[in-house]
Amino acid sequence: MDIRVLHPSDIPLIQHANLENLPENYFLKYYLYHALSWPQLSYVAVDVARPPKTPYDYPKIVGYVLAKMDEEPADGVQHGHITSLSVMRTHRRLGIAEKLMRQSQLAMVETFGAQYVSLHVRVSNQAAIHLYRDTLRFQTEKTEAKYYADGEDAYCMKLDLASIR
Ligand code: ACO
Repeated sequence: MDIRVLHPSDIPLIQHANLENLPENYFLKYYLYHALSWPQLSYVAVDVARPPKTPYDYPKIVGYVLAKMDEEPADGVQHGHITSLSVMRTHRRLGIAEKLMRQSQLAMVETFGAQYVSLHVRVSNQAAIHLYRDTLRFQTEKTEAKYYADGEDAYCMKLDLASIR
């Protein structure tokens, strides 16, 4: 498995993975906005066991993290934000999401001097909550009622990046 920075040419495949794995979906231009504004922060996991056979083949992308910096932080503190993370079902529980997250967090610190990283997660999403809270040590800041379009609440989570600064 190769973890590398997201290229704009990966975006259609990332959008496909997002549609497969999550109900929160975005227009192509929103992915492009991330890739062009903060090219260091978003990563993909590529299954190198299945390399493209011709220059016209697509790489097999099995996971991605789409991340950005908060452009106008309300608290005045430089920080990153995870917009979306997902791994294809066939490739889960292999540590791919953890690697994608750690890579993005490191780039937030090294490139932009981020103090912390934030994200939202559905209160029912046990797999993601386990990853964020237990593996990566995010703290739950608060619950945002009816954050999602279907009325589900979100946990707002935050990780202090002091340990990697
Ligand atoms: N139940 C319990 N724990 C789990 C589960 C699960 N289903 N899946 C992963 N974990 C744990 C792992 O055991 C591991 O813990 P460990 O450090 O104790 O071993 C930890 O989470 C990290 O596991 P990874 O293998 O890195 O996670 P994976 O690559 O399987 O991806 C993810 C996890 C991204 C949540 C995946 O299940 C997925 O794509 N789900 C659908 C999309 C989704 O929910 N994305 C997050 C939405 S929130 C957002 O985007 C900001």
